[in-house]
Amino acid sequence: MNIILLGPPGAGKVTQAKILVDERGMIQLSTGDMLREAKTSGTEMGHRVAEVMNRGQLVTDEIVIGLIEEKMAGATGGGFIFDGFPRTLAQADALGAMLARHGEKLDAVIEMRVDDAALVARITGRFTCATCGAVYHDQTKPTAKAGVCDVCGGTHFLRRADDNADALKQRLMEYYKKTSPLIGYYYAKGSLEVVDGLADIGAVSAAVRKVLDKA
Ligand code: AP5
Ligand code: MG
Repeated sequence: MNIILLGPPGAGKVTQAKILVDERGMIQLSTGDMLREAKTSGTEMGHRVAEVMNRGQLVTDEIVIGLIEEKMAGATGGGFIFDGFPRTLAQADALGAMLARHGEKLDAVIEMRVDDAALVARITGRFTCATCGAVYHDQTKPTAKAGVCDVCGGTHFLRRADDNADALKQRLMEYYKKTSPLIGYYYAKGSLEVVDGLADIGAVSAAVRKVLDKA
């Protein structure tokens, strides 16, 4: 089974993707994570990617399609969760073609619907474990023991360079201009499912589970 998690910055895509990885052994393909890895590579491409991401703009289709193609080629079994990809109509077309080449199809596109007012609080409170990538929030999902990761016991945490008010404004603009047309695109293809992303993490996860079980 292959699904897309679609939603604006802070909608909860990575939070739900990690739950599905744990529960169903699916493979999470996050272009945001891949690009953050490229940013630290010290290459010329890494520097260019860092500049674009820190401003909150989209990286070129060519780069992200190449990254996804590479990861899909090396992965087996489990089914894919596309987190933060596709983000443009060109990327959506490319994904359809890549899945077809692998003899696969898209089973559901889950739009995580939220309102913009909630996103600022979500984004400004987020922090992640530097060791295992577990995602937390100062108010809605703190670690059980202050300063210690629930998953791996790590004690070093990160906040993202693009998680500030200016970059968020730009990220939202990019979402509405370039990514939100995908909602109509997948609706027309009959694959769109909508979940309430404003509910608490457990309730969103239950709604996602329901979609997957009937897909
Ligand atoms: P990316 O890393 O994909 O970021 P994003 O889309 O902006 O989304 P986020 O990761 O910020 O949010 P999320 O939906 O994963 O929310 P999370 O679960 O963390 O992309 C970053 C950048 O990379 C882009 O701006 C662009 O430059 C580039 N890029 C990436 N992909 C690209 C592509 N395909 N094409 C071109 N460029 C690309 O949740 C947020 C917080 O809320 C967390 O703290 C969490 O604990 C909390 N939370 C989650 N769910 C709930 C809930 N239900 N209730 C309360 N709190 C919750
Ligand atoms: Mg994310």
